[in-house]
Amino acid sequence: MAVPLFSRPIRFIRRGEVVSVSNVPPSRTLLELLREDLACSGTKEGCGEGDCGACTVVLGEAAGGQVQYRAINSCIRLAHSVDGMALWTVEDLAQDGALHPAQQTMVNEHGSQCGFCTPGFVMSLFGMYQNHVCKGEPISRELAQEELSGNLCRCTGYRPILDAAQSMAALPPVKVDETALLRKLQLLRSEPGVTETAYLAPRTLAGLLQARADRPGAQLVAGCTDVGLWVTKMHQEFGQVIDVTKVEELRRIEHYPHHIAIGAAVTLADAYAALAKDRPQLHNFATRFAGLPVRNSGTLGGNVANGSPIGDSMPLLIALNANVVLMSVRGHREMPLEKLYTGYRQNVMAADEVLAWIKVPRPQPGEAMKVYKISKRYDDDISAVCLAINLQVQDGKVIAASIGAGGVAATPVRAVQTEAALTGKPWTQATVRQAMAALRAEFSPISDMRASAAYRSEVLGNLLQRYWLESQGLQQINLASFRLEEAA
Ligand code: FES
Ligand code: FES
Repeated sequence: MAVPLFSRPIRFIRRGEVVSVSNVPPSRTLLELLREDLACSGTKEGCGEGDCGACTVVLGEAAGGQVQYRAINSCIRLAHSVDGMALWTVEDLAQDGALHPAQQTMVNEHGSQCGFCTPGFVMSLFGMYQNHVCKGEPISRELAQEELSGNLCRCTGYRPILDAAQSMAALPPVKVDETALLRKLQLLRSEPGVTETAYLAPRTLAGLLQARADRPGAQLVAGCTDVGLWVTKMHQEFGQVIDVTKVEELRRIEHYPHHIAIGAAVTLADAYAALAKDRPQLHNFATRFAGLPVRNSGTLGGNVANGSPIGDSMPLLIALNANVVLMSVRGHREMPLEKLYTGYRQNVMAADEVLAWIKVPRPQPGEAMKVYKISKRYDDDISAVCLAINLQVQDGKVIAASIGAGGVAATPVRAVQTEAALTGKPWTQATVRQAMAALRAEFSPISDMRASAAYRSEVLGNLLQRYWLESQGLQQINLASFRLEEAA
């Protein structure tokens, strides 16, 4: 059957009205749709790769009878993915000539100079306003830093912008009419899905598996925080796209006595929140996975299926002994996450299979889990090395060791030789020294722009030493104090 050239119209809510745009190719980005098709040039393009936040917009979706607001990068988001959602750009906030608190506070605190980054900051502030200020939650300095970590400013400096974030609550409140908005979102959602279109977004798992079986050549996408770069940087165009993010079953996080199951369409923000609920020490690491707009679009399943050797989720999930569940119309199979990979961005998935679930064991008694990320910047950067160490020590002896590493091989890897060097041994400095040597010898990393091979090997061992020192009561080094304001 011939694939239609263009897909069905994209329909979303903006300024309380349904916007419908026809003939949008499946590879078109949301930023292109805004700036070129809708002539809304308030949203800026900086890097075009999810790094600077100049293109930030806010999406709204119905969730549990409320509107869920997410600031996202429009430059790497496919336009069709916002079908059925509400959308706000920087042009949509002021009402009757009065600035929204997210804008007025930037004026009051002198948060803008050249202004190029400002629309993006304002939209991240708007997301924060809806998610926190409107719920009566205070905005701490730490929260402001975390939620603005995906927005870069090169001239004003961050202190006044962080002050602006913390000052929004003091301004006269502005509310979104959520009752009316929810009704409109519901109406959009009740429209029947279509199956013959260039951009397929099945709503059920059965629909997704059938679509995958029928169209093995289509580009499968989730949050597009990597695939979006294939479009903006490599100028790829897709004849047909299958988007997993609307599949109801895969948007869930299910809790069981021995594990949690995270659906492949769950965003990184929500997945890491669930992981950090079981293991609060992961919160800090979670906030260093790109910036919030990337975590609000990208999915844990996408990160895993993409299989980048420098993806941050996989070392962590390997150390947690996570399994992945692959599904197709033929059935399903489950395997340890590290067995998914066969080479650089290669995996065992058949053409008709999708990654459906990631199953993460609950904390074990005596578990001491830590994960370390080494990157040039603290926030919003890619790892040079990532090491996740999960040991169980009982009566002074290591009874179980599970270690995942990233940035040291062609795939995310399990450090099996280092695990063997630790398991069954007394938990002492001497054991750690032997394990450090095993860890440095276990991989042959490459040199690239992020780090040299020698540095990567050296730092691997040093991180294990750090884990040992921290286990002996040395305070965890708090790099958070070196964040945005110091970078200004
Ligand atoms: Fe830089 Fe989108 S333009 S994140
Ligand atoms: Fe110029 Fe931020 S005001 S880059």
